[in-house]
Amino acid sequence: MIKPIIAANWKMHKTIPEAVAFAKQLKKEFPEPGRADIVIAPPFTALSSVMEVLKDSPIHISAQNMHWEEKGACTGEVSATMLVDAGCEFVIVGHSERRILFGETSKMLNKKIHTALKSGLTPIFCIGETLKERESGATFRIIQKQIKEGLNNITSDDIRRITLAYEPIWAIGTGKTATPLQAQEVHRFIRETIAADFEHARASETIIIYGGSVKPENTGSLMDQPDINGALVGGASLDFGPFADIVKISER
Ligand code: PGA
Repeated sequence: MIKPIIAANWKMHKTIPEAVAFAKQLKKEFPEPGRADIVIAPPFTALSSVMEVLKDSPIHISAQNMHWEEKGACTGEVSATMLVDAGCEFVIVGHSERRILFGETSKMLNKKIHTALKSGLTPIFCIGETLKERESGATFRIIQKQIKEGLNNITSDDIRRITLAYEPIWAIGTGKTATPLQAQEVHRFIRETIAADFEHARASETIIIYGGSVKPENTGSLMDQPDINGALVGGASLDFGPFADIVKISER
């Protein structure tokens, strides 16, 4: 039985006091481990302060990005070791905003995933198609390519330590959610692809979460799908009320 993950991606939002206030509310509302794992991805600046609040709680911390090198002349970048140092257990890799706005390629993402795993971080590896790709019938081909390239040379053992996030780009921040059936269809395809590409992967245990305009109103129907194991929540994770509702609905 997979334990679902509900992850908040705060993107470039929240000052340190705002992040700390949210973390305190969260800790109060969810003091014990529940039926879903809660993961919060604050901006880099707030990681340590959020960690201070959440260190003796069951809530996990994620970074939103990292560099693949361990250290060196990479001005403006943050390494996996630094993230572990700041208390992160997860790191989001390959969010479509990183791919599109910052030119991150599959090759870079593959290096990041290898480094993250080596450092003991769980990568939340994001994949998803554009509207144009969906409309031209290329969704499965794109998803397969992103998996193949992003997970190049990952072992069957390591695949168990990776969370996949299906985020159709046309549904991110647009208010358009994939219907539960559209999402389920791709999640099933991702699971089958993992089963085919990684011989002993136990693909039935791979955690595949959905992202793209998740809100309390659509959480239940998405989570009812057999291959959807949680959510990566952007906009609706910025306010405590809706995010807490999403967690509670997913624990039903
Ligand atoms: P959204 O963002 O929930 O605002 O659509 C999701 C994401 O980008 O991870």
